Amino acid sequence: MTKLTQSSEIEAFLDQIAGVGKAGEQRVKTIVHKIVADLFETIDQFDVTDDEFWHALNFVIAGAPELGLWAAGLGLERFLDLRADLKDQAVGFVEGTPRTIEGPLYVAGAPLEKGTARLDDGNEPGEVLIMQGRVRDTRGNAIAGAIVDVWHANTKGNYSYFDKTLPDYNLRRRIETDANGHYIFRSIVPSGYAVPSGSNIEKLLTALGRHGNRPAHIHFFISAPGYRHLTTQINIEGDPYLHDDFAYATKDALIPPVIRHTKTAAINPLGLNETYSEIVFDFVLNPADVAAEENESSRARALADA
Ligand SMILES: [Fe+2]
Repeated sequence: MTKLTQSSEIEAFLDQIAGVGKAGEQRVKTIVHKIVADLFETIDQFDVTDDEFWHALNFVIAGAPELGLWAAGLGLERFLDLRADLKDQAVGFVEGTPRTIEGPLYVAGAPLEKGTARLDDGNEPGEVLIMQGRVRDTRGNAIAGAIVDVWHANTKGNYSYFDKTLPDYNLRRRIETDANGHYIFRSIVPSGYAVPSGSNIEKLLTALGRHGNRPAHIHFFISAPGYRHLTTQINIEGDPYLHDDFAYATKDALIPPVIRHTKTAAINPLGLNETYSEIVFDFVLNPADVAAEENESSRARALADA
């Protein structure tokens, strides 16, 4: 370590880099100053060689399309949630359904259905899943007209839109709750999945002695006028990675029991002549203080052509 970063020369250089004393955006200047100073210090502290630096930059450039996975795997999405959870606790918002990460595989504009929907296209292999429940407020009142925007992987761990062999919006729907705040959908039980084989995020995780697996889960955006937007997931219990998620999204309150119905009379009311799984889960929304809280974050998201 040269201690160069503690020199007045480097401090003046950092001010130049961050445009101190010039026009521009103060918050950008302050944060860029901090990030670059931290990188300088890291390079100095660990005596990073030129080759190591350029290898790292090349690695990030090549991994750019995967950066959404990097945000999950390096715990940044989880960290944002932890901060939001602390802020909620400070104002007494402890009763709503817990948030957890969105991940990079949402596609906007899924078909909108009223009350009930079928997510699979009928050709998707897998055990039938029926999931239902209510969207309600923290006092137990039904929220009619809430939107349950749901998306999940198939049994290969693949998502429609990103896997072009699948129909766009397969295993993706928006369901508007009925007058009782109820929603119900039919789909198939998803499988877990891993970061892409050969990807840079996989190489990084391997270098860290980690894996890139996620347990089986189902993603949700829950929204309604006057309530805070909820981004969350539920996990499928029993998955070997349930508490070993590379994206750190598992929360105990988001692991509902899976009820397995075998070929008994219980099948008949739904007309299913096969074994199926059922999950009953209510989503509880906190009130919004300002309209902006009703919306999802400004993260860039895909929109299918279909
Ligand atoms: Fe996912």
